[in-house]
Amino acid sequence: MSEPSAKPFSDSSVPRHVAIIMDGNGRWANSKGKPRRAGHRAGVKAVRSSIETAAQRGIEFLTLFAFSSENWSRPEEEVSSLMNLFVEALRREVDELHRNNVKLKFVGALNELATGLKNKIALAEDKTANNTGLSLTVAMAYGGRWDIIEATKAIAARVAEGALRIDDINDAEFAAQLELSGLPDPDLLIRTGGEQRISNFLLWNLAYSELWFTDVLWPEFDAAIFDQALSYYSGKQRRFGHTGDQVESV
Ligand code: IPE
Ligand code: IPE
Ligand code: MG
Repeated sequence: MSEPSAKPFSDSSVPRHVAIIMDGNGRWANSKGKPRRAGHRAGVKAVRSSIETAAQRGIEFLTLFAFSSENWSRPEEEVSSLMNLFVEALRREVDELHRNNVKLKFVGALNELATGLKNKIALAEDKTANNTGLSLTVAMAYGGRWDIIEATKAIAARVAEGALRIDDINDAEFAAQLELSGLPDPDLLIRTGGEQRISNFLLWNLAYSELWFTDVLWPEFDAAIFDQALSYYSGKQRRFGHTGDQVESV
């Protein structure tokens, strides 16, 4: 998280870390006269494509928002079909991801998930733990506010036990307690599905991310759309509060 200050004006035109809000599965299905679950199913192909493209373009970290803390409020039938789909996708995809040297990690309130899914997640993380290629993080039962509250509890506990002084609480200490600790902040956030909002994704980590929105619905996301986002990113000057002249003189 201390990335911006450590490397203030990294001029790399390829983002190190891309985060994606994969939205629009339900509307895609509706437009085809299919049930919403068919949209989620079709979205798996787009997930595969986004992972392949990220690896090919030299992106180091890809973080995907698969299920939010608020998505538990959807009709039970939709939630259970999503959970079944996650189990199935893990069963089908993990070997291939492993062959491609992808390192998988899940973040969120994973204790809220069913045991079968939790076990699959643990196995996938273990299997790929030593891989050195793309680092793929999947946010499941995740909420940005939940993440901040959990970090606050951890900080408060350290203060209570005398391991941390209140005056020593700073950006780095706080970020170290968040789910994405150890990862640089996302350089680029992509959201498909036409909405221009964060929907409680990485509230802390997105502070200085470039934001790119598209009307394309998630099941139609492919390498060409990903490249549009990367092209937008490569044209951005990231100032982190400095002036444009300061950035150019580095
Ligand atoms: C995103 O697509 C997938 C999840 C939130 C799990 P949606 O299911 O939100 O699709 P729309 O936004 O209703 O079209
Ligand atoms: C955000 O999409 C969550 C995921 C993509 C997993 P939503 O469809 O839940 O967001 P809102 O409700 O439109 O803000
Ligand atoms: Mg949606």
